[in-house]
Amino acid sequence: MASRFNISGKKAVVTGGGSGIGKALAGALSAEGCEVTIIGRRAEVLEAVANEIGATALVGDVANMSDLKRLVSEIGSADILINAAGINLRQPVDEITEDTWDQTIDVNLKAVFFLSRALVAGMKERGWGKIINIASLQSERAFANSVPYGASKGGVMQLTRAMAEAWSKDGITVNALGPGFFPTELTAPVYGNPEKLNELAAQTAMGRNGELEDLVGPTLFFASAASDYVTGQTLYVDGGFTAK
Ligand SMILES: NC(=O)c1ccc[n+]([C@@H]2O[C@H](COP(=O)([O-])OP(=O)(O)OC[C@H]3O[C@@H](n4cnc5c(N)ncnc54)[C@H](OP(=O)(O)O)[C@@H]3O)[C@@H](O)[C@H]2O)c1
Repeated sequence: MASRFNISGKKAVVTGGGSGIGKALAGALSAEGCEVTIIGRRAEVLEAVANEIGATALVGDVANMSDLKRLVSEIGSADILINAAGINLRQPVDEITEDTWDQTIDVNLKAVFFLSRALVAGMKERGWGKIINIASLQSERAFANSVPYGASKGGVMQLTRAMAEAWSKDGITVNALGPGFFPTELTAPVYGNPEKLNELAAQTAMGRNGELEDLVGPTLFFASAASDYVTGQTLYVDGGFTAK
């Protein structure tokens, strides 16, 4: 009997696949035999990663609706979608502007819905699809200097439930990973502060921050038939941070 985790031959799309968590997860899907497309704005970075992990690069801004339309027509169809593109502009609450608010919500929340909805059509036809959103500790907890980011990630957790409600009867599961702290470009300001980093590690049950490989197992679960009766859930991959 084929393993419930087998995803060989599936078509996967990973936004934000040119760096950090998206890159790690795109690489893991490629290693499992998926045909992977990665999306990001920086063409050079994306091309280099695509070559490294054996993926196709598609350059575009997922927060821009005309780019999104073009990206969808270039993708064609997908069995697995990982919405990993995200930004955290980190501003003190009194310095947040309408522009930084909108940018954050557009990338972290709006793009997740509109890209998912566009790709769901093909998943419905095949009666099978896996959407994996990237939530955050900030879906649950408030952190200083991250008001729009926290709002967007709280939204991602609820959007995950709403999309699951809309599409699960068509054979599509929608789930989210809630990473703790992982070393990426997005968290460079945190990783540049060893004292803060140690404090964060001490807030986990395991006493350490995340390594990108820690996200691979949960992703393969959500991306495969192994999770066919799991939908609308956010799984915290945080060393027990939210359990404490
Ligand atoms: N690192 C952590 O500890 C942590 C914890 C919880 C949640 N997360 C979430 O994990 C996800 C990945 O973040 P990361 O930590 O891996 O940071 P990262 O390395 O900065 O990755 C973010 C990716 O998103 C892409 N991106 C940003 N805006 C985009 C846009 N408008 N259109 C297309 N692509 C865009 C970036 O590529 P371009 O700049 O080339 O567009 C980049 O590859 C994010 O949703 C983040 O919120 C991270």
